[in-house]
Amino acid sequence: MKKKLIAGNWKMNGNLTANAKLLGDILAGLSQPACDVAVGVPAVYLAQCQSVLAGTAIDLASQDVSSHEAGAYTGEISAGMLKDFGVRYAIVGHSERRQYHGETDELVAIKAQRALASGITPIVCVGETLAEREAGKTDEVVKRQLAAVIHTNGHCISEIVVAYEPVWAIGTGKTASPEQAQQVHAVLRAQLHAATEHSARIKLLYGGSMNAANAAALLVQPDIDGGLIGGAALKAQDFLTIIAACA
Ligand code: 13P
Repeated sequence: MKKKLIAGNWKMNGNLTANAKLLGDILAGLSQPACDVAVGVPAVYLAQCQSVLAGTAIDLASQDVSSHEAGAYTGEISAGMLKDFGVRYAIVGHSERRQYHGETDELVAIKAQRALASGITPIVCVGETLAEREAGKTDEVVKRQLAAVIHTNGHCISEIVVAYEPVWAIGTGKTASPEQAQQVHAVLRAQLHAATEHSARIKLLYGGSMNAANAAALLVQPDIDGGLIGGAALKAQDFLTIIAACA
């Protein structure tokens, strides 16, 4: 069976002192996890976290990557630069970037391509808004978002991770029920299956108010291969409980 992946997304939280404490507490409670573990940290703290996490079971993730390779793109961070700091995963197309930074399906697809070209695994986020769900458009929206990534990345698609994050569940305390999440994951799995013969090895994460109390019920679903955790990833004990739920 493939290993699950529990990835924290710290978003724009933390500072040098808090990061050291959080990672120290997580590492102290982490003995041989049954799943892969990663933390997505703000870019300015990559060096700090790289040095704390060296030789541990926790991989480093970035929260974004530039769609450009190099050059005059003020403020951007390239996949090559992330690779320099030992980054293993790059979150791309998070709904907060789609919503607040105007990221399109096509841009997200190119970001995934840049990450892959540098040997970084993109964690491609897809998910519908509440209005889209209520209009019965959930499948249509997530399939459109994933189709762009498949179109741009061809057979490399087998190397990505997909995170289904319903926008209405992010930071709201409203989690998709295990059945709701599984239903969308099955749709995504079928779409990946049509695109690559290696679809079974692609990890599909669920994200959106996943926490210590609801993780086990979500992680037991057949097409849920892990979680992308926001708020609960900032609390060592909660993050550890979610990791333990993979066993
Ligand atoms: P919350 O777990 O805080 O809802 O955030 C989920 C998320 O957006 C992870 O990327």
